Amino acid sequence: MLPPSLKPTRVYSTALGHQLAGDSRVLLQQLEPNSVDLIVTSPPFALLREKSYGNMDQAAYVSWLTGFGGVAHRVLKDSGSFVIDLGGAYQRGRPIRSLYQWRVLLAFCDTLGYRLAEEFYWHNPAKLPSPIEWVNKRKIRVKDSVNTVWWLAKSDWPKADVTRILTPYSERMKKLLDDPEKFYRPKDRPSGHDIGKKFANDNGGAIPPNLLSFPNTDSNSSYIRMCKALGRESHPARFPSELPAHFVKFLTDPGDLVLDLFSGSNTTGRVAEDLSRRWISIDERRDYASLSALRFLPEDTDRARHLIEQMEAGAHFELEAIRDSTGSRSSSATKESRRSPRALPLFGAE
Ligand SMILES: C[S@@+](CC[C@H](N)C(=O)[O-])C[C@H]1O[C@@H](n2cnc3c(N)ncnc32)[C@H](O)[C@@H]1O
Repeated sequence: MLPPSLKPTRVYSTALGHQLAGDSRVLLQQLEPNSVDLIVTSPPFALLREKSYGNMDQAAYVSWLTGFGGVAHRVLKDSGSFVIDLGGAYQRGRPIRSLYQWRVLLAFCDTLGYRLAEEFYWHNPAKLPSPIEWVNKRKIRVKDSVNTVWWLAKSDWPKADVTRILTPYSERMKKLLDDPEKFYRPKDRPSGHDIGKKFANDNGGAIPPNLLSFPNTDSNSSYIRMCKALGRESHPARFPSELPAHFVKFLTDPGDLVLDLFSGSNTTGRVAEDLSRRWISIDERRDYASLSALRFLPEDTDRARHLIEQMEAGAHFELEAIRDSTGSRSSSATKESRRSPRALPLFGAE
């Protein structure tokens, strides 16, 4: 799956995937064309925030991100999708919004040839109010708790199957399914339409909307617990695993290849592994990439510290995902590295 030229960039590998360190614009050029089923990613919005938020900086950000979209287009299969999560921003010093997410969308579609399969909105009910000036102090804007998530595709017909992301029926719908005749009698409806019969098929769940609601409040995953135990800062801009999981289930089959271009703490790789998809995750910061191994390591602080320090210093480790006896996933280092945690040379064979 991984071209030999990319092997030196590996930080760790698991049964199904590889975490790479490097600039994804450069590394992607070495991946096989038409090989990736799904890209799901969240770029650094901080780039935009650190700058002045003016139109020039937004234009620079859009063209920077479009550079990734171009190389990603080559590696996507014709049936592939590119899902990109973009948080909103205000213009500097002004209570008006940046339009950069829409400029990104237009650039990807008009310049790079992506199709907008559907726009999604991720609502984070736990989002704190900001910016303080407009929301808290002057009280002239409401809390911004929704990110745009563009589902882009390389063709008009990306692989997709809604039946894999059905949500539980509402109580009202369950009653309708139990007794359609009683629930909707034609005479009850002014139109006279007997919608009861039409809607009374039990499809195993309800079709979800394009508004996704997941709180971003993970404070007790093994990744967070282990970061604390190691005295390390967890990645500051993680998305909740439900977000990539939604699209991995919806847009890929087991065995398909999922890619994250801005992988951070490798939420996407962990989700892909749990859902039996192959994955490649890339982050330009080797420290973030190394620390993300905590998502796959057992909660053994000394051992994890040792492995991560070696990864940060340039080593590559094979980690093997295993299932514990309860059926939930846990992971351990391979037998080889369990016997003697050993750094594989960065430029060694394999
Ligand atoms: C918003 S974070 C992604 C967080 C991730 N979704 C998670 O759940 O942990 C964006 C990441 O992009 C990385 N990044 C920025 N420029 C990059 C580049 N050129 N190539 C690869 N990664 C890059 C940053 O180091 C940062 O970790």
